[in-house]
Amino acid sequence: MRFYAPTNVYVEKNCVENHKKELTALGSRAYIITGRHSAKANGSYADVTAVLDEAGISYVLFDEIEENPSIETVMKASAIGIEEKVDYVIGIGGGSPLDAAKAIALMIANPDEDQSCLYNPKDLAAPLPFAAIPTTCGTGSEVTPNAVLTRHDIKTKGSIKYNIYPQLALVDGKYLASASRNLLINTSVDALAHLVESRLHKKANVYNYMFSEYGLKLWSGLIPYLKEEKELDEAAYGQFMLTSTIAGMAIAQTSTSLPHALSYALTYRRNVAHGKACGLFLAAYLEEYAKNRSEDVETVLSLLGFDSVAAFGAFLNSILAAETISAEELDLYTDELVNNAGKLATYPFEISRDAIRTIVEKSLVIA
Ligand SMILES: [Fe+2]
Repeated sequence: MRFYAPTNVYVEKNCVENHKKELTALGSRAYIITGRHSAKANGSYADVTAVLDEAGISYVLFDEIEENPSIETVMKASAIGIEEKVDYVIGIGGGSPLDAAKAIALMIANPDEDQSCLYNPKDLAAPLPFAAIPTTCGTGSEVTPNAVLTRHDIKTKGSIKYNIYPQLALVDGKYLASASRNLLINTSVDALAHLVESRLHKKANVYNYMFSEYGLKLWSGLIPYLKEEKELDEAAYGQFMLTSTIAGMAIAQTSTSLPHALSYALTYRRNVAHGKACGLFLAAYLEEYAKNRSEDVETVLSLLGFDSVAAFGAFLNSILAAETISAEELDLYTDELVNNAGKLATYPFEISRDAIRTIVEKSLVIA
């Protein structure tokens, strides 16, 4: 068994201001990586630039990271970072800017390499120092080594072949206050998928149980907010954010599993938000898993406060609208996972093509 968690993580209100010394000690010219709007709308960009200005650290902004960022965007940002001679990277936002920022930190440190190295592992120089400031409550990227990018060459998404942990993660629930209800649902369901998939992972052990089981218990406390039975407030936003970071710590010890693998095709082809795309497969995945080891599924359900997979599925259906795919896509999604040996190896049991097809069929509407 191994436990490895090298990121210096702070989870608290006014985190950026409180830990400005650590944030400004990472280098002398920062490269801020964000999406187009949200970092400015939720106050995180202003918080970061205020501490950089105060410390006299110069910075360059790249704010063109799209949802499900492409390798092309990563390469564009990296070229600018090399040109601007930045020496550290600050990613602000959801999973897309944070994951892209990891790949950008790597590519800037390896200016003679082209994009092919991202998926063909080789010995590279270490990435630039990287600080992550999440502003959504799903990714966990601030504490994981993973960076998932969109690959137009194979029409899906895939994790780059390097482990890149942030040096510093500054986690503050206040950035969720401007999030839409949909964003809150989709990203918190992503965290749920991280907790479930990590708990049921082939590599699961007591270390990630600490995070996945405690995280599932915490996640049960989010349900009344997602059902709109309780009003969101500052304390609630803190809980959503903390749960997401703990879920990230869980997958950092294992990786994700089959629902994430199935989600990539749905996101690529139907533009379904990442968390929702994972969440739609969770109930049918639990049903399949329970045929092999029902006690693990019972643990997951009881920590979440459900007495059956059906009740869990009904809850998810009440917060996630159904998605429709064609019969042709049903086979395509199935085969994508059948051919993904790496992800299949995360599942503790043998699984047939028929069983995978059944998971997809039960999870989506087939037109
Ligand atoms: Fe995820």
